[in-house]
Amino acid sequence: MVHVHIVINMPFEDLVHYDGCCFPPFPPLAKDAKKHLEALQNMKTRDDDVIMITFPKCGTHWVWEIITMLLKQKAEYHPLTREHVFLDVIDDLSSLDTLPSPRVFNTHMPYRWLPREHFKAGRKVVNVIRNPKDVAVSWYCHWHSSNELGCGSISWSEFFEEVVMGQYKNAFGGYFNFQRELYHAIKSNEGYSLCTLYYENLKKDPVSEILKLANYLGVPCTTSLATAIAEKCSFQNLKQASDEMKDHGEEMKVMKEMGRDPPKFYRKGEVGDWKNWYTVSQNERHHAMIQEEMKDVNFDLKLIYEI
Ligand code: A3P
Repeated sequence: MVHVHIVINMPFEDLVHYDGCCFPPFPPLAKDAKKHLEALQNMKTRDDDVIMITFPKCGTHWVWEIITMLLKQKAEYHPLTREHVFLDVIDDLSSLDTLPSPRVFNTHMPYRWLPREHFKAGRKVVNVIRNPKDVAVSWYCHWHSSNELGCGSISWSEFFEEVVMGQYKNAFGGYFNFQRELYHAIKSNEGYSLCTLYYENLKKDPVSEILKLANYLGVPCTTSLATAIAEKCSFQNLKQASDEMKDHGEEMKVMKEMGRDPPKFYRKGEVGDWKNWYTVSQNERHHAMIQEEMKDVNFDLKLIYEI
């Protein structure tokens, strides 16, 4: 007789809950969240390291590639994906010591667990902000496509109720808390450094935003280099490069460990796709929640919903 063993992943049951936040079961977090987050906090960085701190789905892959090109001073794709320096999934952070400079780390962790030394030394930090409605849709599509947390079976409206408005809105600290925590730290600590980019501005005028980023990073950049980088990193070109020439080894290893399918990181790459998903009532409810959250925002946050 053949026994078929079916594993049914219940939505959200695998989330890791820690210190008022919840996270997907990235291997080191699932193993021992406290240990990993303390190691992250104490991680040593170099003067020329850059850390990208982004809430999920705000354009991490896109901006990571732009930064690596700027630091290399060439519009050439990195052969690896940003996952090989994704601090949230790397079990042994000291393994990063062997990487050559300059290193462009990336993380979705709230500020409280980020490398203290990096901030204290005033080293480079880049944050990308995207409007919370497009983030919600992009996130749903990501979790749905990869069946992350058993989300392959849930509908947009279930995701909206549970993650946008409901009991899991503290994922990665929660959209607004994530930003508030970071900007509070930047404001209250002299010498801390931060460059903020908006996904929508980058989409609208990539060359100007790339020049602004180069200026922050302290690297030379002509308009012609910025134009070449913008072109190489357009949605279609970057998606194609990711499909055809990048080594996804590190990413696949993590996915396998988490038992999930590879997510679609390059989906649509547009501003305002939320309008194709939100019902009138969902829009009203999310809008009201955003208005409420904005009352308590301690920095100049301009959310852009269309361009
Ligand atoms: P969509 O799901 O709305 O298409 P992250 O890298 O932080 O996971 O963000 C993923 C989102 O950024 C996805 O949004 C993805 O398509 C979009 N994206 C990736 N590369 C892009 C690019 N070159 N230009 C515009 N958007 C891009």
